[in-house]
Amino acid sequence: MDKNLNNRMNEKDIKDDEIKRQNYYMELCKEWVSKKSEELGRPLTCTAKTFGCQMNARDSEKLLGILLKIGYVETDSENADFVLYNTCTVRENANLKVYGHLGYMQNLKKKNPGMMIALCGCMMQEEDVVEKIKKSYRFVDIVFGTHNIFKLAELIYSRITAGHMIIDIWKDTDKIVENLPIERKYSFKSGVNIMFGCDNFCSYCIVPYVRGRERSRKPEDIIDEIKGLVDDGVVEVMLLGQNVNSYGKGLDKPVTFAELLKMVDDIEGLERIRFMTSHPKDLSDDLIEVMKNSKRICTQLHLPLQSGSNRLLKIMNRHYTKESYLELAGKIKKEIPDIALTTDIIVGFPGETEEDFEDTLDVVKQVRYDSAYTFIYSKRTGTPAAKMDCQIPKEVVKERFDRLLKVVQDISTEETLKRVGQTLPVLVEDINTHDENLVTGRLSSNTVVHFNGTADMIGKIVNVRLDEAKGFYYLGTLV
Ligand code: 5AD
Ligand code: SF4
Repeated sequence: MDKNLNNRMNEKDIKDDEIKRQNYYMELCKEWVSKKSEELGRPLTCTAKTFGCQMNARDSEKLLGILLKIGYVETDSENADFVLYNTCTVRENANLKVYGHLGYMQNLKKKNPGMMIALCGCMMQEEDVVEKIKKSYRFVDIVFGTHNIFKLAELIYSRITAGHMIIDIWKDTDKIVENLPIERKYSFKSGVNIMFGCDNFCSYCIVPYVRGRERSRKPEDIIDEIKGLVDDGVVEVMLLGQNVNSYGKGLDKPVTFAELLKMVDDIEGLERIRFMTSHPKDLSDDLIEVMKNSKRICTQLHLPLQSGSNRLLKIMNRHYTKESYLELAGKIKKEIPDIALTTDIIVGFPGETEEDFEDTLDVVKQVRYDSAYTFIYSKRTGTPAAKMDCQIPKEVVKERFDRLLKVVQDISTEETLKRVGQTLPVLVEDINTHDENLVTGRLSSNTVVHFNGTADMIGKIVNVRLDEAKGFYYLGTLV
């Protein structure tokens, strides 16, 4: 079959053009999958399990797109013919979960030796992880990283022909491969990568080491992708980047994030625009202006604080102070009064004192976040913070964490109460998992609303009166 395909494609094209090259491998794999499925008398199944952030979720849609294109049929079960784990390593817990799954998979694979197991994502960019997999998880078939997900078909084909574990990890890349197949999880909303990587090197964070240097996609590629999504029925996009505010710096014709957002806002047919994540150090007045003047950019802004202590913010390498953060949050709230601010906070960073922690609480109380993701500091090997003395005892961290959570939750409850009685547009996302007479959707602020509705409303924006606030969600009535 190799020869046939080679004849169908021009050799030079295969070398010159990554897409053509990958299409070639997808064809080869498709023939293999079809042959196997004929032998077995049933379709071959695949599943992709995603850990971590929105970036990983979007990568998984791309990986699944390739798997479906080569003939696998998607299933929820981990007892599938192709099982892919797209891993996260931002905190240690995420790693432990993957090892837990692998332990379970070892038994499943004993019963189904034809099964292929692939690992990819951030965790695979760490050398010691790959060493551990090579040594203790020899039943894994394919290991690749964050920079070469577009190569999945090629890696599968290498695994089939080589007959042993294939490992392909790139340290970094300047390559952005466009136009591969994508299998979206939702028909009506989609993530859209606008940039990859991170150059900020916050001292606790492993992301810059595993996701590589910052690189932006060309605005025209982003706009074309979104227009295509809109033609395909998408009404909401989430623009994705580790720090969207530094979008466009390395492009031949530099473009700011505010300018990009304006271009996206001008796309006909798009109803809602979200983006994440915004680093407070370089959120521009132009961005606030674009948000303020748009009806489609959602009234939600994720602005990670991490800590309210100037001393810790400096050691964290965050490049802002408690005062400048508060000033920024105040300005945003003044310009866009119905904005829902959300944040990330780390508790127990090395050397955190009670006074440092109280500064964090103070910012939370002043900003009054709609919701906040609170994390216990996790030591990540290879980051500067991992080498710092004064790691905080577990019980102290736990006590502070609980105190912070209580403040965050109380404020979030009070903030949600403020909107009770209002009628607001809701994008319906799903049938409620607990009650099939209810549907679940989201406000522009991203808060969840449950109300009486039917499956035909999914993907539509409808007006809902918010009757009751239940902490972090609402019960409402369709009007
Ligand atoms: N420990 C705890 N939380 C972390 N985050 C990143 N690195 C760590 C770490 N080592 C959190 C930050 C970031 C979010 C995505 O994860 O709050 O904003
Ligand atoms: Fe990590 Fe900081 Fe980059 Fe966010 S901005 S991914 S916290 S290094």
